[in-house]
Amino acid sequence: MNHFNYRNDHMYCEDVSVSEIAQEVGTPFYLYSHATLRHHFLAFQKAFEDVPHLVCFSAKSNSNLAVLRLFRNLGGGLDIVSGGELFRGLKAGIAPERIVFSGVGKREDEIAYALENGILMLNVESFQELDLIDKCAGRLRKKAPVAIRVNPDVDPRTHPYISTGLKKNKFGLNMEAAVETYKAADARRHVEVIGISCHIGSQVTEMAPFVDALERLKNFISTLESCDISIKYLDLGGGLGITYDQESPPHPSEYGAAILETLGRVPFTLVLEPGRVIVGNAGILVTRVLYTKQGEDKDFVIVDSAMNDLVRPSLYNAYHAIEPVARDAEGTIKADIVGPVCESGDFLARDRQIPHVESGDLLAIMSAGAYGFTMSSNYNSRPRVCEVMVKEDRFFVIKARESYEDLIAGESIPPFL
Ligand code: LLP
Repeated sequence: MNHFNYRNDHMYCEDVSVSEIAQEVGTPFYLYSHATLRHHFLAFQKAFEDVPHLVCFSAKSNSNLAVLRLFRNLGGGLDIVSGGELFRGLKAGIAPERIVFSGVGKREDEIAYALENGILMLNVESFQELDLIDKCAGRLRKKAPVAIRVNPDVDPRTHPYISTGLKKNKFGLNMEAAVETYKAADARRHVEVIGISCHIGSQVTEMAPFVDALERLKNFISTLESCDISIKYLDLGGGLGITYDQESPPHPSEYGAAILETLGRVPFTLVLEPGRVIVGNAGILVTRVLYTKQGEDKDFVIVDSAMNDLVRPSLYNAYHAIEPVARDAEGTIKADIVGPVCESGDFLARDRQIPHVESGDLLAIMSAGAYGFTMSSNYNSRPRVCEVMVKEDRFFVIKARESYEDLIAGESIPPFL
């Protein structure tokens, strides 16, 4: 379900007109629907209600404090990959014992920060990391709770940049190395093995790769048991895809049912790290048409948002539907929708058929709630856009638009210049 709909040919987010928000806050801006976020989170959680579970929302997909607070209020935890994401999670009021820390390159200060705050577990991705965690925990006189991230070597059949569970990917440890790491971890004084984790990739639109990975994990857990290593948490990562265009991914309820069926008995707490499936279709990027121009080969619609605001089309050739905020045009055009950034790779859509637009019109870049704002940058010294959340008939600016002053915050010119 998503709460972006047309009323009298004008796009609404819940009960607020999108163009009215644009008038108030200017463009471009990210816009999230509270009801959609809530609905998606609860639907996901419901899929696992029959077993002990913890839904650790993946902060990398959308880390705005208001979004994190909403999921905290619904009983969620957090999946983090950096000290910065831990800081956000704690600021949002998420209990540390509901936070899991993944990532291949945790720095010592980040590990210490996590241990000092008593997070649920660190998902270890290498032997050297295990050593560092042990050392760090010893210094802090703590016992570090860890899971080992296993790379199950299954093909998630998604974009190569976002597949993570293949042998050739940098993530996790292969089964053989993982057994050795478990044994080593078990023998470390300042480490307590409590879990196993895995994440195969993102925007996965079929169930088979998840089931495949889980079958392998199940076998692996039996191997561990035969070495007298038992676990309390099984972290299955995230990765469930959404509909951007024509994809028809499994509904969270189907995803949950298939996982529970594959697992059989569940003598542990399941940890899930969904990101995109919760926030992706709960957000849009609203942009204004600056100019239209006819090139020799093709037509261009030049808008005021760019690859620095939403990099997914440029980086992954990702498809985002583009809808007019007011459906009043007659006829359609086929054009590249491009931004002001000085790169040919700066496009939001290519050769896209959209309703006829004119300078000043508003366009909505759909399905932009995940990996939109969080991947944005200041390239070309463009201030980052604002983020807005709608709840019923009201809207709230949940992140102010950056100013020119913000752009130079922290910069200084040394005295010799
Ligand atoms: N857990 C781990 C360990 C992850 O690496 C990821 C995503 C997730 C959970 C959440 O995955 P999700 O449920 O959102 O698929 N920037 C790319 C996506 C990169 C995903 C990286 N890892 C994009 O815009 O498509």
